[in-house]
Amino acid sequence: MSDSIVYLNGAFMPIDEARVPVLDRGFIFGDGVYEVIPVYGKRLFRLDEHLDRLANSLDATRIPNPYPESEWKKNLSQIVMKHQFEDQSVYVQVTRGVAKRDHAFPETITPTVFMMSNPLQVIDIDTFNKGVSAITLDDIRWQYCNIKAITLLPNILLKQTAVDEGAQEAILVRDGEVTEGSASNIFIVIDGVIKTPPKSSRLLPGITRDLIVELAANNHINCVESNFSRTELSAADEVWLTSSTKEVLPIVKLNDEIIGDGKPGPISRKMYEIFQVYKAQLRQNED
Ligand code: PDD
Repeated sequence: MSDSIVYLNGAFMPIDEARVPVLDRGFIFGDGVYEVIPVYGKRLFRLDEHLDRLANSLDATRIPNPYPESEWKKNLSQIVMKHQFEDQSVYVQVTRGVAKRDHAFPETITPTVFMMSNPLQVIDIDTFNKGVSAITLDDIRWQYCNIKAITLLPNILLKQTAVDEGAQEAILVRDGEVTEGSASNIFIVIDGVIKTPPKSSRLLPGITRDLIVELAANNHINCVESNFSRTELSAADEVWLTSSTKEVLPIVKLNDEIIGDGKPGPISRKMYEIFQVYKAQLRQNED
């Protein structure tokens, strides 16, 4: 097995030695929340934004935030420094903790905190140039998709349906409107204008999504946060996904239809390039 070092409840240890009791509510109920934070050149990407979203997920699920921001930052930078690879993907999970099985919250309980880091498999230019295929599926998830909950069974089933059909992602549609991917946010381009659904309880407020909206504005590229239908998605000139691990990943085939001319379009390429420049700057920042 791996000798990777992980963090569990205040201590660093080899992953093979990390143990969580079977009565942990994360294991029993999926009662917990998580974050995935990319690291470029050993620097945590948009850390404040990730910690804000974690705090929001904890608030929404009424799990007490186990640490002040300064302690999160200290622990996170330690986990990064304990791994030699420059680019990492740090996984953070907080569950409500260990208690006798009962749906209602126990009166006193201490959250379980787990963190691990893996090498980040970045989307290279070849993958970008090829693009990926996706299928559309009904969004069968719950009403609080803004919470980054570990309870991911619907997302897993949706993603597996896509994989079974030879596609990389499932694009979800609720009441005729496109929400996001099973593990990513979505952008389309119609007549030169970028569109992404506005933040709501129907989708995860992606950190990469927010950055793309911000970078588009900074570069005077027209981008609107507005809902669009399944029909508009099919008619789009360009479509791409964003996430901490996918960065900006074009979809060139949707169900059996080709998007645009079957290659990543010029605005997707521009946003990918702007994103790469942003990353390169992050690597060079002084600590
Ligand atoms: N998922 N929407 C969903 C449902 C997601 O699961 C994710 C990310 C995103 C994109 O968010 P961000 O840009 O902050 O990564 C949107 C992570 C990567 C995962 O579950 O592994």
